[in-house]
Amino acid sequence: METKEVFDKVASKYDIMNDIMSLGAHRYWKELLIDWLSPKKDMHIIDVAGGTGDVARRFLKRVKGKGKATVCDPNEFMVEEGKKNRTYKDKIEWVVAPAEELPFKENTFDAYLVSFGVRNYSNIKKSLGEAYRVLKPGGSFYCLEFSKAKNETVSSAYNIYSSIIPVMGKIIVGDEEPYKYLTKTISNFPSQENFKKIIESTHFKEVKYRNIFNGIVAIHHATKIIDV
Ligand SMILES: C[S@@+](CC[C@H](N)C(=O)[O-])C[C@H]1O[C@@H](n2cnc3c(N)ncnc32)[C@H](O)[C@@H]1O
Repeated sequence: METKEVFDKVASKYDIMNDIMSLGAHRYWKELLIDWLSPKKDMHIIDVAGGTGDVARRFLKRVKGKGKATVCDPNEFMVEEGKKNRTYKDKIEWVVAPAEELPFKENTFDAYLVSFGVRNYSNIKKSLGEAYRVLKPGGSFYCLEFSKAKNETVSSAYNIYSSIIPVMGKIIVGDEEPYKYLTKTISNFPSQENFKKIIESTHFKEVKYRNIFNGIVAIHHATKIIDV
């Protein structure tokens, strides 16, 4: 199943399925992402693979609507679903485009955020190059993504839980295939150390990550520092 087909199918139920599949935990994880960003008024952030714009709205809520957010996603159905939510609608710019070819000038954004999106990118290195290009000097890259649990017991429990996600998809959305794809992309995604190495192989500097829930989820951070 192609990535586009997956998100075409899940778009209308995306937000509710996110709550059900993560037992609401994605809300907490995204708040930790915004905590690490240390949002400031007048920041302009880009939420890539932004889907329905959940992360962008969490940022805008923290800055009481005083910042600006661009939500960028190649799937028009996800974007259309996001536009139905009118919260902070004047502060969000919606752009349909993939992470591999961002239609923005260099040095545009204060921060690049991607939440549960990188594992869907068709070319991670090219996308990281685009992230670097569109960030202002000193700008920050943040990636929230499923990762590898440190503890064997946690990892086994998580694998059992993952195996029932397609069943939930079948019951709620009427199709298990998109959810089989989602769990496959999670298990294929590099470990937190290997993803750190991939980011370090680009121009980004000061690459760090934090584990959440024993590493089931991790947030990677990197900075655009221009050598003088
Ligand atoms: C699991 S959703 C995440 C949505 C949102 N960021 C969130 O955390 O709720 C993954 C998103 O990645 C998008 N996507 C797929 N391929 C992409 C690509 N090459 N570049 C950018 N986004 C992509 C999908 O359209 C989908 O909206």
